Amino acid sequence: MSILFNDIFLRACRKEAVPFTPVWFMRQAGRYQSEYRAIRERYSFFEISHHPDVCAKVTRLPVEKLGVDAAILFADIMTPLKARGLKVEIVEGVGPVFNHPIRTGADFSHWRSLDAASDLPYVLETVQLLHQQLNVPLIGFAGAPFTLASYLIEGGPSKNYHRTKGFMYAHPEDWAALMEDLAEMTLNYLHAQIRCGAQAVQVFDSWVGALSAEDYHRYLAPTMQRIFSELKKTHAVSLYFAAGAGHLLPEWNQLPIDVLSIDWRTSFADFGQLGIEKAIQGNLDPSLLLAPLPMLKERAKRLLEERNGKPGYIFNLGHGIFPEVSEDKLLALTQFVHAYSQQLGSQ
Ligand code: CP3
Repeated sequence: MSILFNDIFLRACRKEAVPFTPVWFMRQAGRYQSEYRAIRERYSFFEISHHPDVCAKVTRLPVEKLGVDAAILFADIMTPLKARGLKVEIVEGVGPVFNHPIRTGADFSHWRSLDAASDLPYVLETVQLLHQQLNVPLIGFAGAPFTLASYLIEGGPSKNYHRTKGFMYAHPEDWAALMEDLAEMTLNYLHAQIRCGAQAVQVFDSWVGALSAEDYHRYLAPTMQRIFSELKKTHAVSLYFAAGAGHLLPEWNQLPIDVLSIDWRTSFADFGQLGIEKAIQGNLDPSLLLAPLPMLKERAKRLLEERNGKPGYIFNLGHGIFPEVSEDKLLALTQFVHAYSQQLGSQ
């Protein structure tokens, strides 16, 4: 680990005082970068993970190019499922596709469990390499059970998740067994990443906003309680993200999570009105990255002013970067957030 280690991100996650607002971007490694596109010409998405030196390079790119305050491991939420022998593919412009969608409990009861150390040694080697190479914290991550189940049951991306929810309502016992299977896998994978050097872990529950608060409480809260209680016993900070899930904030607030990551549909005022005291991450609409720079800066400025004086804020997008975004704009935005938040703090 370098002596000049920038731990501002971790301090903000723990709600400690910071000299400026830390920034990182969801999907900060990806097709908007020319270097990434060049690497993808030589390696398929999953092949990158199998080459720890290449994977570490891709993970470091946004830190080196943009100056963000955290790195996120380059992998996918489907990585541990693939390592268990499931036939998952990433189709460009579509997302993860699974050709044997779950219809009954018998479709998954025979799956072998994940042992990250023996099933994903190349990912853990990447984490170890990054722990030596980075001068900012490394965020490990995993998909949350609902979001993973949505791909496994729908067979790919979905608009309304009706098959997933239908399975949950019609086969509650099979649903509970699937959530337990996926929670077990997620914990095994995250614990291994933490042991190898990840100082933070983000659980991506991108599509869980499709559930009502009542159904979240009934069908998911026990699973999420288990995941975050186990993570709480480690030294890593935990972050939880979902899109379009403002109505679930009261549920999330009951869970032992350090940082709640929200999208632009929820305002910081909504967050405050609910009396939530946890650290917050977000929530710039990634579409604003396609707006003229002065407008983008104006919106970022507003977010910083709203959170000014309150500890526990990490600047991020409300969802991932699109491939058509320009790297120069992201660099300008990162520099602006650092400079303006420092200026606000010193007033
Ligand atoms: O930089 C980072 O954020 C780290 C890497 C990362 C990827 N996927 C790389 C990736 C992370 C954290 C993810 C998480 C992920 N994957 C989520 C949760 C976050 C979110 O955006 O909601 C979800 C839902 C997925 C599933 C998935 N994988 C989708 C929807 C896609 C996009 C499909 C496309 O082509 O637009 C992927 C593929 C994927 N994962 C890419 C990257 C860089 C693009 C693949 C490529 O290089 O062609």
